[in-house]
Amino acid sequence: MSRHVWQDHFRTDELLSVNADEGVIVPVISAPQDFNEEQLYIDLQSIFGHALFLKCEGFNFAGSIKLKAAAAMVKAAERDGILTPSSVVVESSSGNLGVALSMLTANKGYQFICVTDSRCNLSTRRLMEALGAQVHIITESDAEGGFLGARIGYVRALCASDERYVWLNQYANPNNWRAHYGTTAPAIARQFPRLDVLFVGAGTTGTLMGCARYFRQWHRPVRIVAVDSVGSVTFGGSSGRRMIPGLGTSVRPQLLDESYVDEVINVEEADTIRACHRLARRGFLFGGSTGTVVSGAMGWLIQRDARALTAVAIAPDLGERYLDTVYQTNWVQDLYGDDVLRSGDELAAGTRSV
Ligand SMILES: Cc1ncc(COP(=O)(O)O)c(C=O)c1O
Repeated sequence: MSRHVWQDHFRTDELLSVNADEGVIVPVISAPQDFNEEQLYIDLQSIFGHALFLKCEGFNFAGSIKLKAAAAMVKAAERDGILTPSSVVVESSSGNLGVALSMLTANKGYQFICVTDSRCNLSTRRLMEALGAQVHIITESDAEGGFLGARIGYVRALCASDERYVWLNQYANPNNWRAHYGTTAPAIARQFPRLDVLFVGAGTTGTLMGCARYFRQWHRPVRIVAVDSVGSVTFGGSSGRRMIPGLGTSVRPQLLDESYVDEVINVEEADTIRACHRLARRGFLFGGSTGTVVSGAMGWLIQRDARALTAVAIAPDLGERYLDTVYQTNWVQDLYGDDVLRSGDELAAGTRSV
């Protein structure tokens, strides 16, 4: 009987497994952060007509890639004595890091305050509250017109008011990118030893910088393509309306070092919506940022007719949190117009990157 050790399904060193009747070692965990599916890819050839392997990061108890950053930041803060049993963790998040921290702090017994803004999905907010977090919602943008600056200002004021508050600061914390340098990137490298190009969405740029740093010192050159939303200032664009959380910023992320990035693609949110719906029509319900990354990556690959390249893109989460937005017809039509999902138009998804 063959025995499989599903090491890549976990993210910690302290794994628990049991030998089931068939002789297969199955995962058994006692903390939610101890499980993460690291080996699942979708071949998008049959959906978009061009090969692209989509790494699915939504299969863990936090439902997103942000579990890795959250776990690494908490672990480092505990190790460095910054987090103590009386600490109250505070973080600014558009949602997914907030959910991951809600889960981790619930498990570890810390209090947690998530500072988010009015673009945070209702279901994401409810999820955090169900896990015992307090959610503070910022409804006014700052003087520069961004919510992020306003959220960060609020977090700073909270921390100044009480020394028990600990801000992990995902925008500047190196453990954010180190999480991906140690897990996401090596997992892709193991699966695709002949990888040519990697497409990574940019929010805090933790995923991007961790993967880019890892592949910079790999055995073969890998083209690192950052995917961002139109209206984001991350790579120097001008600030504009962005309604889909996850990617894009209104304040340049401190973690970003552009010398590791080969190219940047900016995707219109209407194209994001089209890519999400196109995937959903084939039974794959993904979050908004996955639509952005897939749209940008497909445009890049099709423009270059890059059939010989091995290409991977990262899907940060799944679609259930977006049922009231990306997958809600009125929301989509009010924001992007009646024709955005017109039959046939969706075929344009991915071909209008700038
Ligand atoms: C859905 C989603 N996609 C993408 C990202 C961006 O990841 P990163 O912050 O590592 O750049 C995030 C970050 O919160 C996210 O929630």
